[in-house]
Amino acid sequence: MKVVILGLGSVGRGVAEQIAKKDLGITITGIADSKSGCIDNNGIDVTEVLETKRTTGVCGNKKISAPDILQKATYDVLIEVTPTNAITGEPALGYIKTALAHKKHVVTSNKGPIALAYRELMALAAKNGVALRYEATVGGAIPIMHTLEQGLAGNEIIALYGVLNGTCNYILTRMAAEGLTYEQALMEAREMGYAEADPTYDVKGIDAAIKLVILANTLWDNDAKLADVDLTGIDLLTPDALRLAEDEGCTIRLIAEASPCQHLLRVSPRIIEKDHPLVVDGTLNALTLETDMAKEITLIGRGAGSTPTASAIIGDLLCIRDRYDKRP
Ligand SMILES: NC(=O)c1ccc[n+]([C@@H]2O[C@H](COP(=O)([O-])OP(=O)(O)OC[C@H]3O[C@@H](n4cnc5c(N)ncnc54)[C@H](OP(=O)(O)O)[C@@H]3O)[C@@H](O)[C@H]2O)c1
Repeated sequence: MKVVILGLGSVGRGVAEQIAKKDLGITITGIADSKSGCIDNNGIDVTEVLETKRTTGVCGNKKISAPDILQKATYDVLIEVTPTNAITGEPALGYIKTALAHKKHVVTSNKGPIALAYRELMALAAKNGVALRYEATVGGAIPIMHTLEQGLAGNEIIALYGVLNGTCNYILTRMAAEGLTYEQALMEAREMGYAEADPTYDVKGIDAAIKLVILANTLWDNDAKLADVDLTGIDLLTPDALRLAEDEGCTIRLIAEASPCQHLLRVSPRIIEKDHPLVVDGTLNALTLETDMAKEITLIGRGAGSTPTASAIIGDLLCIRDRYDKRP
């Protein structure tokens, strides 16, 4: 199976490293970052490209761009791992549409296009007889989509509750454990590399809400948008609120929840019993699915990181290979 990778940051690098390291039958024929690209239809020397990127900041020839790779490389699957834009979805949205229109499968970790244009993209993939998979967009390494498709096949999903933002979870964990203020915990999260310089998307609950939209649309095909989510972040939480929860044997977590029968789509700080499976520490993510047959299932794992996110992408690639690529 031949793949091209658009984006060679944390996730793109993790995917390239794992493909190079493991004998998966996957050949990388094109790679691009924001300023350059490289194409070799016989297979790129990944170690060399990663070293070039590390030492020079670019991965290849400055005359080759991401759109060139989509047009000129030979590939079966586009791995789209460029930055998220939740307002326009670009440049990822255009890249994904181009690949699907050329009957190429797409695997992405990019929330923007999936949250903004889920129905349009799935229809385009179906029309062209290819797959669009996006396991890495929600819950990092946690195999949520695979669990829904396979392990829980035939179950009705009645509701879901999740801790979907590692930055918020880290801040809340540290506020509760050390009695830190929100500002102190945020500063610590920044120092640890868990929070962006501008943490607005995380702490206001927007990142979790985008992931909730993706989950709700995947599960119930209800064409939800970010604006449909009832949203409260953690930025106004006080140490007193956490202390009061602690006094009752509880704690506070930013919970994303959805239930179609209750018309519920909400992200907000919730008081939750300390022994509840969703009370995970640090940057972990967790998702509880309430189903008719299996009842409650909780998945816990790493919600971000180069190699954990690569795990979700590789899982999607191998799923495409097994379903579509019938060659020996
Ligand atoms: N990091 C995680 O743990 C994680 C987890 C789940 C999902 N995600 C999502 O995965 C995606 C990638 O995340 P990341 O952490 O790898 O981001 P990142 O480190 O910022 O890397 C983004 C890469 O995309 C490249 N790029 C920017 N604009 C481009 C363009 N127009 N055309 C082609 N390439 C372009 C950048 O090029 P330069 O190198 O030249 O700047 C960089 O190589 C994002 O959508 C993110 O939300 C990330």
